[in-house]
Amino acid sequence: MAYQNIEVRTEGGKVGIITLNRPKALNALNGALMDELGAALKAFDLDETIGCMIITGSEKAFAAGADISAMALMTFTDVYKEDFITRNWETIRSIRKPVIAAVSGFALGGGCELAMMCDFIIAAENAKFGQPEIKIGIIPGAGGTQRLPRAIGKAKAMDLVLTGRMMDAQEAERAGLVSRVVPLEKMMDEALGAALMICGYGQLSVMAAKESLNRAFESGLTDGVMFERRIFHALFASADQKEGMDAFLNKRPPQFTNR
Ligand code: CAA
Repeated sequence: MAYQNIEVRTEGGKVGIITLNRPKALNALNGALMDELGAALKAFDLDETIGCMIITGSEKAFAAGADISAMALMTFTDVYKEDFITRNWETIRSIRKPVIAAVSGFALGGGCELAMMCDFIIAAENAKFGQPEIKIGIIPGAGGTQRLPRAIGKAKAMDLVLTGRMMDAQEAERAGLVSRVVPLEKMMDEALGAALMICGYGQLSVMAAKESLNRAFESGLTDGVMFERRIFHALFASADQKEGMDAFLNKRPPQFTNR
């Protein structure tokens, strides 16, 4: 597929990197971009050689939100009929391998929501996060009112969503939205380092860890712990579990086969 709104490449033959590329609109997310993003993520997810993905943007903007010029004239009938947001965005939730967001500049509205749909966020010092939809007469529509309070708690989420203010990378790290903050020039190296580390592990246990962690947000503690236990037990049927433990006991590096 030829992409117009994103750039796609691999690093080390193992990490799939997707760069959002609508610089004139600060990477505002329109239907075409989201279709391409979904297609690229799916292709990497199905590619056995790829172990982890990174989504990033430009220095100035990860993404400044859903495309306001595309939404401005839409009616309730339009958005309801085409299931606006769900059609493209839910694809990201279905990706089974880890996806890291490497965020510099603005991650606002749908941009912040896209970053939150990734498995974790590595931010550059110039990153700015926010849900400013209130300023244009709407509310977050791609999970912002749900994922933000789960990530940073109700008080700060209410503050951000109701005032529309931005928070900088340091505040976002203190609040638990991002896992690491690094200088801008080190951001991609940091994300790549994390991705390559993940690629060194067995894909089965990596996917199982992601699936089980996501359950923490979708079930109660008893169900979540039971789900984790079943997956934990299931991994004892894998060659990677035998290999990983044997390698540890014999003081050698493991050779995972993703089986
Ligand atoms: N949609 C469409 N175009 C956008 C955009 C967006 N979300 N954000 C920025 N742009 C465009 C601007 O219109 C401008 O285009 P022109 O040069 O053609 O005028 C260009 O990108 C550069 O933007 P600015 O000149 O505004 O740049 P700035 O540095 O002065 O400000 C900014 C940067 C603070 C991010 C500002 O652009 C801004 O506030 N953008 C809108 C942020 C926003 O409201 N996002 C939420 C969108 S709604 C949403 O996302 C719903 C949802 O939950 C899914």
